[in-house]
Amino acid sequence: MSRSSTLPVVAIDGPAASGKSSTARSVAEQLGLLHVDSGALYRTATWLAVRQGLSEPAAIVAALDQAGITLVPQGAGLEVRLGGVTVEPAIRDDAVTARVSEVAAMPAVRAWVDRQLRDAIARAGGGVMDGRDIGTVVFPDARLKVFLTATPGARAERRLRQVDRGGDPAEVAAEAERLAERDRLDAGRAVAPLRQAPDARVLDTTGLGFAEQVAQIVAWAREAGLSAD
Ligand code: CDP
Repeated sequence: MSRSSTLPVVAIDGPAASGKSSTARSVAEQLGLLHVDSGALYRTATWLAVRQGLSEPAAIVAALDQAGITLVPQGAGLEVRLGGVTVEPAIRDDAVTARVSEVAAMPAVRAWVDRQLRDAIARAGGGVMDGRDIGTVVFPDARLKVFLTATPGARAERRLRQVDRGGDPAEVAAEAERLAERDRLDAGRAVAPLRQAPDARVLDTTGLGFAEQVAQIVAWAREAGLSAD
């Protein structure tokens, strides 16, 4: 059987802090579909590795299996729990963000995450998923693929605003540097690198408001026959 999907899936990929998760959540709400944030699972694997001092891929996967993962419906999305305990907001910490690209480059970790992603979409009968390799590897037959971009400066400003550290130009420059480094690692890895699918529609959100970018993707999704109603 092909691992690709004929299920109604919207794949939203793009570089770090391009607004994928919040956009995907809102698109899913408007279409009445499930939102799955694939980055949350890579962050969960990294958080566990940091907490337990693990660096070997097999040990990280064994620890994930031992902890027991559940994906609990929460609004339009899924909350990740390990051993019944939510991993939010710990997986958004700077210490996790600094290590996540290294852990996400491990094929064994990617295989573990891909299983969770495909199971969640199969159970829901489709959904909106955001990440780096959704349109290229996880769901290459997704009915709609979007590649979300914005200039490094715009992405850095948005990320800092999200954590209430916006404003200072030196901070913005330092954050843009960290985002660029993560993109370099994500795009340069051997397995499932960050890459635009040839059949993806590109949406540059630099000059767009949040509502506008959501409306554009919802319109494309409706054109593609995707909505729960
Ligand atoms: O929200 P942000 O753009 O900062 O990142 P994220 O979507 O939470 O993803 C965190 C990290 O997970 C990325 O930098 C990638 O290293 C990894 N990731 C991946 O490799 N493949 C995915 N489909 C999603 C995330």
